[in-house]
Amino acid sequence: MVREWDPRTASSAEIASLLDTLNAVLAADLPQDPPWRENSMREYLAEVMPGERRISWVAQAEPATDGSPGAILGHVHVLLLGDIGVLEVLVHPAERRTGLGRDLVLTAARRVYQEGFQSIGVEVVGDTPAVAFYESLGFSKEYVETRSVLDLSGVDWAELSEMATGIGAGYHLEFHPGGPPDELIEAYARAKAEVRDVEDGELRPSSYDPQRLRDSLDCLHRRGMKPYIVLALHEQTGEVAGLTEVVVPVQHPTRADQYDTIVVQDHRGYGIDRAIKARMLMELRSAEAELTEVQTWNAQANEAMLKVNAELGYRPDREWCEYSIDVAELVHRLDAGR
Ligand SMILES: CC(C)(COP(=O)(O)OP(=O)(O)OC[C@H]1O[C@@H](n2cnc3c(N)ncnc32)[C@H](O)[C@@H]1OP(=O)(O)O)[C@@H](O)C(=O)NCCC(=O)NCCS
Repeated sequence: MVREWDPRTASSAEIASLLDTLNAVLAADLPQDPPWRENSMREYLAEVMPGERRISWVAQAEPATDGSPGAILGHVHVLLLGDIGVLEVLVHPAERRTGLGRDLVLTAARRVYQEGFQSIGVEVVGDTPAVAFYESLGFSKEYVETRSVLDLSGVDWAELSEMATGIGAGYHLEFHPGGPPDELIEAYARAKAEVRDVEDGELRPSSYDPQRLRDSLDCLHRRGMKPYIVLALHEQTGEVAGLTEVVVPVQHPTRADQYDTIVVQDHRGYGIDRAIKARMLMELRSAEAELTEVQTWNAQANEAMLKVNAELGYRPDREWCEYSIDVAELVHRLDAGR
């Protein structure tokens, strides 16, 4: 049975059951990824940026004979932003190939259509059943990135410490756990607006203006995702010349996510990219006792970034793709197939 579901009011047992399904999916499809924990799981599922909406549904098993509620076997949510609905679907490995995934997508797609949105996008992890699934539904591949993972136990910390200080004269680095301080928000947003070397999927919102940046940091905190920032400041102008962002989610604190890394055009060629990333890893090592890995996503054409990451010890892991489809076309196709 598929029904609309609100994580804000769901019972703790339902949240725990959904987490079990998520971990069963990870064990089946991404066995190298750490299992998720219950910490702030409700907030992770419920909190959104101002102006965005997330609508969720679950597929729940029948109640047991003793009346206790059935397990959550499938889940779909769609995040409505701009003119796109970003979809995420999970089906427990024991329940796959029975048409449940297709039903969940149809339920969400109908709503996205009714709400007047144009298209649906989804992140699809390479080399998992999701590729054949979305291709069978008519989604097309828009963009491919490579996910790379750094194992901190293999890092040469002495070398890293040299990289962190190998920066041109006239710049200094600052570490800001929690996000940039308020007095630097404007300069920070300017750096993000001027140039972006996209390290994460286009499906994630980016923060170009100061208010959106504040909102985005606030949303991360509410979802249990701790942001860490290293900045390169240009001493003469006070401008942010470079920045790198890593998020440590309480749901999987052993593996952090690298978000944007940016070096502003005028400040390229001074070793800033290497230095900020190296400094970040050193800071994380002391700030996050449980951390063992960092993962990052890069466009395959972004050779400069890939080179720096390889020097730091990142190993390519797998493809991470964005697929999309016109909503009306998807609804029509799925309805016709019923
Ligand atoms: C992708 C996923 C949702 C599919 O769920 P499902 O319930 O098995 O899908 P359906 O039964 O509705 O399949 C619909 C069609 O998709 C295609 N398909 C689905 N899985 C497939 C597979 N493993 N191989 C080939 N085709 C497949 C088939 O055409 C299938 O139709 P058919 O069974 O009549 O041949 C499920 O595998 C899943 O949850 N994957 C994890 C997704 C994810 O987000 N992971 C991120 C963290 S790892």
